[in-house]
Amino acid sequence: MGVLGSYFVETWGCQMNVLDSQRLEGVLQARGLAPAPRAEEADVVLLNTCAVREKSVQKVVSRLGELRRWREERGLPRVVGLCGCVAEQEGDRFLERLPVVGFILGPGRIEDLGLALDAWEDGERDRRTGFDAASYDPATIARPASARQYVTIIHGCNQRCTYCVVPRTRGREVSRPLEDIAGEVKELVARGAKEITLLGQTVNAYRCPRTGATLAELLRELGAIELLWNLQFITSHPRFFTPALVRAVAETAVVGSYLHMPFQAGSDRVLRRMARGYTRRRYLDVIDRLRTARGDLNLSTDVIVGFPGETEADFEETLALVEQVRFGQLYGFVYSPRRGTAAAELGEPVPRGVTKARISKLFAVQTEIQLALNRALVGSVVELLVDGPAKRGTALWQGRGRDNRVVNFPAWEGIAPGQLALVEVTGASAHSLVGRRAGASGERRRKTARA
Ligand code: SAH
Ligand code: SF4
Ligand code: F3S
Repeated sequence: MGVLGSYFVETWGCQMNVLDSQRLEGVLQARGLAPAPRAEEADVVLLNTCAVREKSVQKVVSRLGELRRWREERGLPRVVGLCGCVAEQEGDRFLERLPVVGFILGPGRIEDLGLALDAWEDGERDRRTGFDAASYDPATIARPASARQYVTIIHGCNQRCTYCVVPRTRGREVSRPLEDIAGEVKELVARGAKEITLLGQTVNAYRCPRTGATLAELLRELGAIELLWNLQFITSHPRFFTPALVRAVAETAVVGSYLHMPFQAGSDRVLRRMARGYTRRRYLDVIDRLRTARGDLNLSTDVIVGFPGETEADFEETLALVEQVRFGQLYGFVYSPRRGTAAAELGEPVPRGVTKARISKLFAVQTEIQLALNRALVGSVVELLVDGPAKRGTALWQGRGRDNRVVNFPAWEGIAPGQLALVEVTGASAHSLVGRRAGASGERRRKTARA
């Protein structure tokens, strides 16, 4: 050992990968490696990848090409590890075709990173994938110094949406024991975390393996933790949004108003072909129940445009749903065929020009809705968790409220990341708000409120 002194981890994809990168860093640090300021200077570069769309896989291929050229020119990085969902999905093919890849490590094998590095030091190219021995050790996570932290509560996905690679890249669902989650969250809050985001691909399918407790019960349990400012969870599946969960969201004060629940398509015909397991009506019912129980929700969603066989009429139903619900945030994607998924065999691809026109239309409609929703907030005072300068070297800082909306504001004397602050909203664009300091700091106000 000892040849490898520094590392750099690059992260693509979802929040789950962000947390997985912290887990990978934890293993590297425990092995005595130190973070390098840039990939160019690191002995070990790990690519923690996303396979959800073809474009994300292509980016990995071109990045690997760059790393290969650096290595030829300056001998660094010495080892490139391919991790994450592309590793799980394409492991063998990449190992065969791309000699720059030093080892393959799937999302179910993060804690085997040390073994993969040992193998590399012995001159072997290791491939570690699969989920049968997956583990999750909160003690080895290299958490950033941030008041916002992620906690996985359920691994994997048991759904079979016909377009999606995630069930294969993440394996079957495995929930963590409630006790362990509560312990981890308490510890994080004791160390200064103010916002906790619970993670799972179908986070509301959570079931404690020891007691059978659901997400509703978990929220209530975590809701009792003092000094926790905001609790949120992503991603919810409409199928598992039970009345008990609606009540828990409404009645647990620390649960924030941001709620992410993809609908994917507005037409029942498309939803059926996607095998989403709910109808348009059922989705809208869940939204209605949620809004009735809790008026302040800032709903966010994912939509796929151009699913095979999607007609103009199907797409109109997607637009109509967006106009009806008025989401505060929407992530729209053009359908990308994935090898090995059922939808890739469905045929009838929607022509590129058509999908492009549809996604632009969708974004145009959404932008107007967001602008209107954001403008309605002008004049209100919001409590923010301060993140830091909006851009390096400016006096404009940034924070987010419990609704997950970004607010930019001029900094003041003594402001620091991780503080709570009260800001009056003075202006709005479709994607963010601007504001100025309002009254006493949130920190002080909260203490008095709780006293
Ligand atoms: N578990 C989450 C989503 C995980 S993937 C859920 O069930 O909602 C994140 C988003 O990527 C999905 O919501 C979907 O909108 C999009 N997506 C997944 N597969 C895709 C594909 N093949 N083409 C385009 N978008 C896709
Ligand atoms: Fe993919 Fe569907 Fe599972 Fe979400 S619920 S990860 S879209 S298979
Ligand atoms: Fe991508 Fe894997 Fe997340 S495919 S979206 S990184 S679960």
